[in-house]
Amino acid sequence: MRPVELLLWIVLPYVAMTVFVVGHVWRYRHDQFGWTTRSTQILESRRLRPAILLFHLGLFAVLGGHVLGVLVPASLTERAGVSEHMYHVVSVTAGTLAGLTMLAGFVLLLARRETDARVRATTTPTDRATYLLLGVMLVTGMYATVGENLLLGGYDYRETVAPWFRGLFTLDPDTSLIAGAPLVYRIHVVAAWLLYALWPFSRLVHAWSIPFGYLGRSNILYRSRRPTALADERARPRTTA
Ligand code: HEM
Repeated sequence: MRPVELLLWIVLPYVAMTVFVVGHVWRYRHDQFGWTTRSTQILESRRLRPAILLFHLGLFAVLGGHVLGVLVPASLTERAGVSEHMYHVVSVTAGTLAGLTMLAGFVLLLARRETDARVRATTTPTDRATYLLLGVMLVTGMYATVGENLLLGGYDYRETVAPWFRGLFTLDPDTSLIAGAPLVYRIHVVAAWLLYALWPFSRLVHAWSIPFGYLGRSNILYRSRRPTALADERARPRTTA
């Protein structure tokens, strides 16, 4: 194995995974008040809404596709009655739609951030690095799906990229599998590890703080310390615009 292969396909993934886990623990312990999306909705909400919806809908669909295409072995889907041809057709169609939705959201978010002066002023260097990595992953991912898999006749990443990726978690990664994959897959994967390493230090930490509690919790009542506040409020004459 060449040193560069060892570095890219073994050292980088394990270092990124370690930084991801330790970084989250560190951030949680030292910066709970900063553990937010650093939302800019209060500065601009009209353009944010459709962009954020498209980005997240596309992202969830893309991640679902990754679970099926990268984590589930081809032998399992075949045993479940899904032929290679059927898998290919569904994965290219769904992957293209999901990727385009995410890309549209990403472009709208980026345009809003760059053209709205107040939003741009809140953008940090970490945000810029996050957008850059997401951009690289979107472009290379789309090229892999549409270019390699649709227009160029198909590349079977389930026999190369996917088993190498799973091998990392069984401590037996076969680097020759990923090293032989087309360049676009290799760039995609390197950008993914860099994004995972950056994650705990970025606004992406909000991903782990979905407020499920909101669905079941009782209403919060706000009461004034002055016992007569409510009566005063009701007695105040109403003004109309
Ligand atoms: C190390 C982790 C990852 C691996 C091994 C991986 C692998 C792949 C592969 C093999 C494809 C091409 C599928 C095809 O040719 O049809 C792909 C596509 C794509 N990936 Fe990733 N990926 C990873 C992480 C991510 C992450 C974290 C994101 C986004 C935040 C992402 C976004 C995309 C997009 C947008 C596409 C194109 C649309 C699609 O096919 O779903 N990837 N990825």
